[in-house]
Amino acid sequence: MEAEVENKNMNTEKLKEIVAFRAVDELVTSGMKLGIGTGSTALLAAARIGERYENGELKDLLVVPASFETRMECQKYGLNIHSLNDRVIDGELDLTIDGADEVDTRKNLIKGGGGGLLLEKIVGYVSRDYCIIVDQGKLVPHLCSNRGIPVEVIPEAMRSVSKHLEGLGGGVTLRMARMKAGPVITEKGNIILDTLFPAEILKDPVAMERELNSIPGVVENGLFTREVNFLYVAYRDGSVKKNPVL
Ligand code: A5P
Repeated sequence: MEAEVENKNMNTEKLKEIVAFRAVDELVTSGMKLGIGTGSTALLAAARIGERYENGELKDLLVVPASFETRMECQKYGLNIHSLNDRVIDGELDLTIDGADEVDTRKNLIKGGGGGLLLEKIVGYVSRDYCIIVDQGKLVPHLCSNRGIPVEVIPEAMRSVSKHLEGLGGGVTLRMARMKAGPVITEKGNIILDTLFPAEILKDPVAMERELNSIPGVVENGLFTREVNFLYVAYRDGSVKKNPVL
């Protein structure tokens, strides 16, 4: 049984690598202003970009990482790291590559499973092109199939926002830290309320994304409904499809 579980995990890791490498090799070209998201799949994309930069295949890349962890991975390879406000970036990117926790049939996403969603959303939404890389396990018939929507909240507003989310029909859980007492604190000092909505309430993810952000105290939420220009999916048989029909 343990061996089976290990095998399954190894397989998922391999799928993440295959899909990350394929997207980077097909989409990233020299001279790009590039956003790189967060999470284990995005980290593999960062590593692939780094390798191709180190061996001279990619030149003059300007990279904006969406988290501390991704920044560290980019630093390993000596990539040119920038903030969105730097003059050479000026708040605009050519392409962002990122992972996701759930992808529905209309390519709406839930992100933030690893705690990063605020910078990921900013970086993703200011990009001309948006590329999402996932393994098959992330495809769902509707959002909130396997997890709630992470809602990043100013700590002082925890109770008021929780009540508001419950009023909308959501089941709210304060995300707790694993190796630290108390709640998860995001890179910007906020808490996360994971909010599970039944399918009948989450019929219109675009409207819900806006509605969640209109609650006082909410900084950002993990529903991502901008157009996904490129969706790469790695399937269990090892194949990768670009923009598959879902
Ligand atoms: C980080 O908080 C998330 O938004 C990630 O993009 C998402 O959780 C996917 O992560 P994995 O690639 O590790 O599954």
